[in-house]
Amino acid sequence: MLTAALLTLAAAVLASLPWWLPGRVVALRVLVFNRINGDEGIPVPGDLVGVERFKELYAHPAATGRSRGAALSDLFWYWLAPGPEMHQEHLEAGERYDAVARTTRALLAVPRAEAEALARRHAARALGGVAGRVRLRDLMMPLWAGFAWELVFAEPCPPESRDLVAANADDVVTALKCCGLRHMDRRDRLTRHLLGRLDRVRVPLPPGLTPLQQAHYLQGAFFNTAVVQLSEAMAHLLMTLAQHPAAQEEARRGDDRHLDRVIAESLRLHPLFGIAHRVTTAPVDLGGGRVLPAGSVLCFDYPAFHRAGHADPGRFDPSRFAGPAAKDLNHLPFGVPANRPCPARGLAPVVMRAVTREVLGRYALATSAGHTRSLPNRGPCLLLPLGAPPPARAALARMRLRDRWEDVWRSLVQLVLGTYMVWDARRLRLCERHFARAARP
Ligand code: HEM
Repeated sequence: MLTAALLTLAAAVLASLPWWLPGRVVALRVLVFNRINGDEGIPVPGDLVGVERFKELYAHPAATGRSRGAALSDLFWYWLAPGPEMHQEHLEAGERYDAVARTTRALLAVPRAEAEALARRHAARALGGVAGRVRLRDLMMPLWAGFAWELVFAEPCPPESRDLVAANADDVVTALKCCGLRHMDRRDRLTRHLLGRLDRVRVPLPPGLTPLQQAHYLQGAFFNTAVVQLSEAMAHLLMTLAQHPAAQEEARRGDDRHLDRVIAESLRLHPLFGIAHRVTTAPVDLGGGRVLPAGSVLCFDYPAFHRAGHADPGRFDPSRFAGPAAKDLNHLPFGVPANRPCPARGLAPVVMRAVTREVLGRYALATSAGHTRSLPNRGPCLLLPLGAPPPARAALARMRLRDRWEDVWRSLVQLVLGTYMVWDARRLRLCERHFARAARP
């Protein structure tokens, strides 16, 4: 009798795991990370600076330090290796940064029609023969790998190069989300591949860099950031459309204004940066006798900023971006114009729109999987050829159940691997050691 009761209880607890365990594990992970990382960061918005001064502080002339002096940088450098010291995002201001940023701008300066055609061509290739259940991020990675390759080399992307780029980008984003460890051999293979092709890049590379530094720069900005960000942004956008059939239908039939609002709302709900940090290079007077000393680490919290000012911040509502009031919304998907915003802020929405049209012209999208900002499930979705019958309810129920159970296992993996990687990054101190070496006479 007692055994039967215990067995029933155990079965009930087991069956309920997907509904409570992943949330608890995420909370525990945050706690562990904070413990290991310490509390050097000042959250913005937060107790010290409210949401109304978010942009002002982000754009402050003293909020310009990028990496040096922040323990948090060791973590980012760990995830972005190899060559994190050459990644544009993490270079300190100066001649080297200017040269790298100039090269990135030159590579991204593609006429709009050309960029759209390039994105469409790669979408058509990636979508050929695909149907049924997919993971949107996995579907998008080879597409943007080929796109980035042609941006850089202006020549067709050989399948071998596409595979290397997609494997590198996937490895970086998987580690960033603590769903897997880094595979440096995979990343180094791409570096070697790029080293053999530096003379074929279609614009002059930044002068004064060694070939290895040039390869690392390209790998960081174009074969890591560009591919990861566009794949993640598209996975969020298509998940959002899959969850909102009316908005999907309007995007399929309607003009670009609706689709642009959906893209803006998707980036508001799911900003690709959780936190971007800056290290102050001089004291910052906050008024009222409060002064932030030089060397303070400011952590700009994009999701908190995007939620502020809305009565229903979590609701998907593209009409927020209709009308003149839209420009006053707390919305900074590509960063602050005055402080190193995204150099692809002009190009990214254009090519995302082109690829979305290619997808919606072929498929109806449906999903019942969970959709969070970090998207560790990589966006499970059903792609149904247009005109095919809608998805069976049973298929959606199966997808939901499978996603929930995967969540249980995944959250435990993230806890263990995340804790290990944060510890390992603190041990290696890639950023701190780099600047210590540079400071030696
Ligand atoms: C939808 C896609 C994208 C989004 C939402 C996005 C978002 C952002 C944001 C918010 C920042 C500023 C972070 C900060 O203030 O520290 C940034 C910086 C950056 N992004 Fe993007 N990005 C996207 C696509 C791309 C692409 C396609 C590239 C291609 C090269 C790119 C390259 C960079 C670089 C190099 C920086 C650092 C800029 C600097 O420090 O000078 N991003 N991005």
